[in-house]
Amino acid sequence: MPQKALIFVVALATLLLSACAPAQRTGATSKMTQQPFGKTPAGEDVALYTLTNSKGFAAAITTFGGIVVSLKAPDRAGRAADVVFGFENLEGYLKGHPYFGAIIGRYGNRIAKGRFTLDGVAYKLAQNNGENHLHGGISGFDKAVWKAREAAAQDGPSLELSYLSQDGEEGYPGNLAVTVTYTLTEANELRIDYLATTDQPTVLNLTNHSYFNLAGQGEGDILGHVVTINADRFTPVDAGLIPTGELRPVEGTPFDFRQPRAIGERISAPDEQIRLGLGYDHNYVLNGAAGTLRLAARVLEPSSGRLMEVHTTEPAMQLYTGNFLDGTLTGKGGKVYRHRYGFCMETQHYPDSPNQPGFPSVVLRPGGRYQTTTVYKFSTGERP
Ligand code: BGC
Repeated sequence: MPQKALIFVVALATLLLSACAPAQRTGATSKMTQQPFGKTPAGEDVALYTLTNSKGFAAAITTFGGIVVSLKAPDRAGRAADVVFGFENLEGYLKGHPYFGAIIGRYGNRIAKGRFTLDGVAYKLAQNNGENHLHGGISGFDKAVWKAREAAAQDGPSLELSYLSQDGEEGYPGNLAVTVTYTLTEANELRIDYLATTDQPTVLNLTNHSYFNLAGQGEGDILGHVVTINADRFTPVDAGLIPTGELRPVEGTPFDFRQPRAIGERISAPDEQIRLGLGYDHNYVLNGAAGTLRLAARVLEPSSGRLMEVHTTEPAMQLYTGNFLDGTLTGKGGKVYRHRYGFCMETQHYPDSPNQPGFPSVVLRPGGRYQTTTVYKFSTGERP
């Protein structure tokens, strides 16, 4: 090759490399896009954000309820499927549903009789689940329109949602400023960072209520999913699903998931707690120190090979196996959500903590900072 031509080729190659290198370093193919998702009956505009990483792992999140509308994860062969329940448009969500994908607050799970006392003051909340209060009441965080902005995260596209819950909302004291940040990382993780401050003493317990089916949403029941839960104990409940206060060892019960077991294996076992929950609808006391991010659970769907790990700083996690689903709701792609077609892993504090002095505190005071993190990480694996 003549020298001039060689210099030209080297220069061109250098130019091309320098153009490509930053894209690889920063993962420039990961991105966040926005589109309209509809209007609430009150006329508020609702948006849908889609976060995608360079591998095609993608989450769509709406400002209505901070709901995870879809989550696309690859199987063993690299084929993506949407692994969470949801609706195609806002109307679907407005018609009512059991908290598909939503941010739950102020208090995830139940508060007995909708009552608690804090610093000697008695508070009365909505009773929206029999005589109990569930998932923040009649109009909880799942129905709020959140303010959205792009957050600056090092490890992927990041959506910051914020909401100011007014003093007295649903009966709770204090103006509570809440920020929930969803980040989609290059490691196929959906990370959720929760942050809150208050101007009066209050109680809170934030979580996300996604219903997962790792074979793909609407693709049959979840009984064959193989679950491991990092918990030696759980909180048994009464007939209203309120904890009795006992921390019961899982040892020798159908609640023992310390070794991988299929969800369906013991879901109909002749066990009083299984009977009360109509299956699994129980709070697991996670091993390890609350406040540190540690493995809570691992779920493998054997046919697709999709594997989900849940990591959290929270002290506990509710396993709910879709026992109340009855096929009356039709979601994305015309999929019908039947009995046990999805499961939830709601990282949280224990249910009814405001009335249980022996449970870890859920009280937030002015000057304090509520801060928790949960990560749902997707990969693939073989049956253990
Ligand atoms: C609860 C279930 C409830 C479901 C939907 C779960 O977090 O534990 O008892 O039916 O949410 O509301």
